[in-house]
Amino acid sequence: MELFEFQMPTKVVFGSNTIHKVGEELAKLGGSKVLVIIDPIVHKSGSVGAIFNNLEQKRIPYGIFNQVEPEPSIESVEAAFSELKSGGFDIILAVGGGSCLDTAKAVGVLATNLGNIQDYAGWNKFNNKPIPLIAIPTTAGTGSEMTDAAVITNKKQNVKFTIKHDIYNRPSVAILDPCVLRTVPKGLAVTTGFDALAHAVEAYTSLMSTPYLDAFSLYSIELIGKHLHNFALDRSDEEAASGMLLASNMAGIAFPIAGTGNCHCIGRFLGGTHPISHGMCCSIILPHVVEFNYAYSIEKFKKIAMALGADVHGLSSKEAAYQAVVAIKKLALDVGLPSTVREFNSELNIDSEYIADECSKSWYNKFNPRFTTKEDFIQLIKKIAS
Ligand SMILES: [Fe+2]
Repeated sequence: MELFEFQMPTKVVFGSNTIHKVGEELAKLGGSKVLVIIDPIVHKSGSVGAIFNNLEQKRIPYGIFNQVEPEPSIESVEAAFSELKSGGFDIILAVGGGSCLDTAKAVGVLATNLGNIQDYAGWNKFNNKPIPLIAIPTTAGTGSEMTDAAVITNKKQNVKFTIKHDIYNRPSVAILDPCVLRTVPKGLAVTTGFDALAHAVEAYTSLMSTPYLDAFSLYSIELIGKHLHNFALDRSDEEAASGMLLASNMAGIAFPIAGTGNCHCIGRFLGGTHPISHGMCCSIILPHVVEFNYAYSIEKFKKIAMALGADVHGLSSKEAAYQAVVAIKKLALDVGLPSTVREFNSELNIDSEYIADECSKSWYNKFNPRFTTKEDFIQLIKKIAS
C-alpha cells in the first residue's frame, strides 16, 4: 500500500432542521457580522426563511447578496466582494448550489488577499487564509461544501478558471439539512445527482485514489443507487434527500483529492463550448465513460456493480464489472436522462476533434483508469454526441 495523507478541515453538521443551528455555528467561529450569499431562486422561494429567523433570534447582524449567477462570473464575484467590503462583514454564509458556494469561496479569498480574483486562478495561488465560510447546500450534487475549489467564468474570454488550494479553500462548516431540498426542481435533482455519481465513480476508479477515499466514494455510490430514484420522484422524501445529501458530500470529500477521469474531462470542454449545464454534461457522458473504462479496473467496477445492487452471483469478474455499466445506464433511463447530446438537443453540433484535442492535452485525464489517446477521445465523443 502506498503512502498517503488525509486531512478534512470542514466540520459537518447533518440532520433535519439543522439550519436552525446556523446562529450557533456562526458564534462558534467568532463572526460578528455575516454576509449571506444566497441563490436568488432559493431566496425568493422562502424555503430557507428559518435561517434569517435564527439570525434575528440570535441577534447576529447580517446583510444579503442574492445576485448569484448560475455560472458565476468575475463580475458577480466582484459585486459580492464589494458588498462584503462596504458592509464590514467578517464571515460568510453561503446558501445555494455549487455556483453560490463557489461565489462565496472566491469572495472569501478576495477578503484577505485583495487584488483581482483571476490572479488566484490555479493551485495554491493565494497565501492568506480566507475569512470563515459556512455552507448550506440546497442541491445534492456538487459537493462544493467539502471541495477545495471554486470555478469562476471569465465572460470576456469565454473560459472558466478554477481557484484551488490544498488547505485554505474549504468551508469551515457544512450544514446538511435535507429539509432545504424540498423545492429543488426534478430536473436539477436528477442532473446534480448524476454529477455526484460521476464524482464518486471517477474518484473510486481514479489512479490516485486511496483506501480512505475509496471508503467515501464507494459508500456514496451505494447511497445514490438506493436514493436517487426516490429523490427524483419526491424531493420532500426526507430519507431519499438525506441519502443524496450525504452521497454528494462524501463524493465531495473524495474527488478533489483522488481526481476525476474522462467524464469530467470531456464534460469540462463540452460544457465550456456548448450551452449544457455541468450536471447534464456528466449525466450524458458518465454511462459512455464507464463502458469505455470498466475492463481496465475490473475489481473496482465489480464493487460498483454490487454497490448499485446488481446480482453478480455466478458471473466472471469481467462480467460482474460490466454490470456496473448496465446498472448506471438503467439508473439514467429510470430517472429520465438523455443518453446522448443529440437526444438532449438535436440542434447542437459537437466538434469532437476540438474537444478530443483539448482533453488529450488536459491534466484532467491523467487519473482515468484507462489510458486514453486522442483517437480514443474522438471515438468516445462521437458516441456521446450521436
Ligand atoms: Fe462534477
